Amino acid sequence: MSTQKPVRRITVPQIRNRKGGQPIVSLTSYHAHTAAVVDKYADFILVGDSLGMVMHGMDSTIGVSLELMIMHGTAVVRGTERSLVVVDLPFGSYEESPALAFRSAAKVMKETGCGAVKLEGGQRMAETIRFLTERGIPVMAHIGLTPQSSNTMGGFKTQGRDESDWVAHEADAEAVSEAGAFALVLEGMVEPLAARITEQVAIPTIGIGASAKCDGQILVLEDMLGLNPKPPKFVKVYSDIGDRIEQAVKTYTEEVTSRKFPSEDNIYR
Ligand code: KIV
Repeated sequence: MSTQKPVRRITVPQIRNRKGGQPIVSLTSYHAHTAAVVDKYADFILVGDSLGMVMHGMDSTIGVSLELMIMHGTAVVRGTERSLVVVDLPFGSYEESPALAFRSAAKVMKETGCGAVKLEGGQRMAETIRFLTERGIPVMAHIGLTPQSSNTMGGFKTQGRDESDWVAHEADAEAVSEAGAFALVLEGMVEPLAARITEQVAIPTIGIGASAKCDGQILVLEDMLGLNPKPPKFVKVYSDIGDRIEQAVKTYTEEVTSRKFPSEDNIYR
């Protein structure tokens, strides 16, 4: 008889079926401790390639490797038991061909134990999304402001300010939905466009800087916790963890230098 507790995570079809229903809650997480907290509340946790900037001080997500995603993805899966864990495919690991994307995604899923992968791109990635989903790899798509294309986009710019661009974004959304993506991240997009896409596509849209009209929301955990001194404008900061860390480090420093720490309670006898 097995003594293991059965693990019941939220599934890809459950997320897919939330279209137009109760808003989907999600956050990024990159390590086991924070993931364990987020796990109590989020429907899915994204191990986003934003970890390159947040955890490793990179300037963009371009330098993030598959190995780095696997390392953080493994930690998040270990730290959680309830939320669906989605891991980003990093730049260079999938764009070249559906076959390369399959190899990268399969490696991520086997080595981390995550339940799905996310990749950036609309119509141009539709063939790849179909190739993966037909072979057992659930895919979350990501359109609008796609940070891995920041060099071709000329930076991090809100998408859809010019109405003449809407047709292309709508075609991207339709293409990834048609190809079998189970959900779609809309990043950095004006509200009327996000609302139109949310109405048009059959799969849930997850907004980040894309208004309350989406079927769910995601934020970078460190941004909403107050650890990023310059969070993007759309972020609501729910805590002041950065200041509290500094206060704790300051108090510790004062106690060490005045020999108040360690005290009797903090030593082995
Ligand atoms: O990498 C990331 O954190 C993301 C979210 C911003 C959606 O892709």
